[in-house]
Amino acid sequence: MSVDYSAVTERQQKVWSLGDYGRVGSLLSWMGECLVQQLDIHSDERVLDIAAGNGNASLPAARRFADVLATDYVPELLAEAERRAEADGVVLRTQVADAQALPFAAGEFDVVMSTIGAMFAPDQQAVSREMLRVCRPGGRIGMANWTPDSTVGDMFRAVGKRVPPPPGVQPAVVWGSKERVTELLGEGCRDLRMTRRTCAWRYPSAAACLAYFQAWYGPVAAAFTAVGEEGRGDLEDELLSVFDSHNTTDDGTLAMDVTYLEVVGVRA
Ligand SMILES: C[S@@+](CC[C@H](N)C(=O)[O-])C[C@H]1O[C@@H](n2cnc3c(N)ncnc32)[C@H](O)[C@@H]1O
Repeated sequence: MSVDYSAVTERQQKVWSLGDYGRVGSLLSWMGECLVQQLDIHSDERVLDIAAGNGNASLPAARRFADVLATDYVPELLAEAERRAEADGVVLRTQVADAQALPFAAGEFDVVMSTIGAMFAPDQQAVSREMLRVCRPGGRIGMANWTPDSTVGDMFRAVGKRVPPPPGVQPAVVWGSKERVTELLGEGCRDLRMTRRTCAWRYPSAAACLAYFQAWYGPVAAAFTAVGEEGRGDLEDELLSVFDSHNTTDDGTLAMDVTYLEVVGVRA
């Protein structure tokens, strides 16, 4: 099936511009810290962060004095990344770019990475081709991708039942499976290491988490708009039951350890 990737990308860009992803992203900064540590980024390296949002992976790389370029297709999020860098007193460059068509030369970067970002672009082959193209041979590629069995996988399935994804587009969370990552990056990388990790999400309650996502997380905000008033209760119920099913505490708060696949490889 032929997919109009530009049309899907345009629609998704509007979705990620809703709310303020930065409010969610700031709670996930550990994933960027962890990936940058695994990538062993040094101060003399040129680092590209793709679909960087408000800079969760860019900032720890900048704190290592690397030459970091944060890219995303939502300029407001890059502006947040710049403000965070300024608050930390570190240097970070930003540039608007689509993960599927990076405006950079072949081999321009020593490290190319993306935390829970590039996985959302609809043309997965284009993303892998571009990540590999702009990384120099011997450089490192790093990703952190939500897994299909994670809370986020369940959230997107709950949304997808009501707001069907574009036909022919693979779900983003397949980037969280070792098989799919091997298909997409296996030929272009050697020493591909894939590790399942968890990121701790802690909220005052399941209801508070739902309200937070409705307010700030574009894909959830867009889903509520799409289902309208008549579909609201049903979607709320299913998302609450997703949170409840992943909750590891019974003290009334919400504690979920959300699984993701961390990928680190050397560009062949
Ligand atoms: C869940 S957020 C992750 C942001 C950040 N990397 C982090 O770790 O918090 C997903 C990000 O991917 C960006 N994004 C999704 N598809 C993209 C594309 N095709 N090109 C550039 N950015 C994209 C969104 O704008 C959003 O900032």
